[in-house]
Amino acid sequence: MSDPGRALMGVSGLDEMLCGGLIAGSAALLQGAPGTGKTTVGMQFLYEGAAKQDEPGLLVSFEQFPHTLYRDALAHGWDLRGLEQQSKLRIVFTSPQVLVSSLQSPMSPISSAIRELGVKRAVVDSMTHLQTLTRDPVQLRSHYNFLINGLRREGITALLLSEDSGPDFVRSDRGRLAFAVDAVILLRYVEIDSVMQRAIAVLKTRGSDHDKSIRRFEIARGGVVIREAFQGREGLLTGTPRRTR
Ligand SMILES: Nc1ncnc2c1ncn2[C@@H]1O[C@H](COP(=O)(O)OP(=O)(O)OP(=O)(O)O)[C@@H](O)[C@H]1O
Ligand SMILES: [Mg+2]
Repeated sequence: MSDPGRALMGVSGLDEMLCGGLIAGSAALLQGAPGTGKTTVGMQFLYEGAAKQDEPGLLVSFEQFPHTLYRDALAHGWDLRGLEQQSKLRIVFTSPQVLVSSLQSPMSPISSAIRELGVKRAVVDSMTHLQTLTRDPVQLRSHYNFLINGLRREGITALLLSEDSGPDFVRSDRGRLAFAVDAVILLRYVEIDSVMQRAIAVLKTRGSDHDKSIRRFEIARGGVVIREAFQGREGLLTGTPRRTR
């Protein structure tokens, strides 16, 4: 049986890396390079909640229209449109400005969806777009905190997606998003023997232990699957690792 204090992500191997899933009601950041699988993990997390855990979900996208998300999800076997029709999921295509003002207004479509569906899980795709709200890092940080605290107050387990901007991700994190969240998961490409592979690492989980290894992962029909830890390499997160033996 799953732990009621945890929200299983439904990603084989990732729940084990997180020692049983995300802490319910917490906010996690999933940061990754283009095409590493952020949106896929986001949809997988919402599908797990809505279809299997009786936890209705909200997907806020600034990037993809609902019909392209339905199509991409269906290729994995996830019928998101069907879940929306059953009021277990709501997909909202909007702008960062509308999202921030919506959370301030109890009558907005997003606030009503949270109430009417009893939303327990949310994905924002992606937080990087909030940078268009302001050039001031202090103000950006306050937008991040406003959003994250709003979701925490509703008891929603949030998976916030963000674009990865290179090896020094803390320095490039203008609004200090990685510090505002409870957990950070990183997706990267690594080049090994002239082949690009995908790597995943859990960098922090407030209030819980986590796997410290860097693991290989794949995307196949059915979503993301975590494989073995990389052995005998160092410098994996730079993208160009060296052999250690
Ligand atoms: N049905 C599928 N079967 C196998 N692999 C797939 C499938 N759908 C997508 N992929 C893989 O997943 C990748 C895209 O994943 P996804 O859209 O989740 O990435 P992302 O990190 O959100 O990208 P972006 O930064 O562009 O938003 C594709 O490049 C492809 O390699
Ligand atoms: Mg995406």
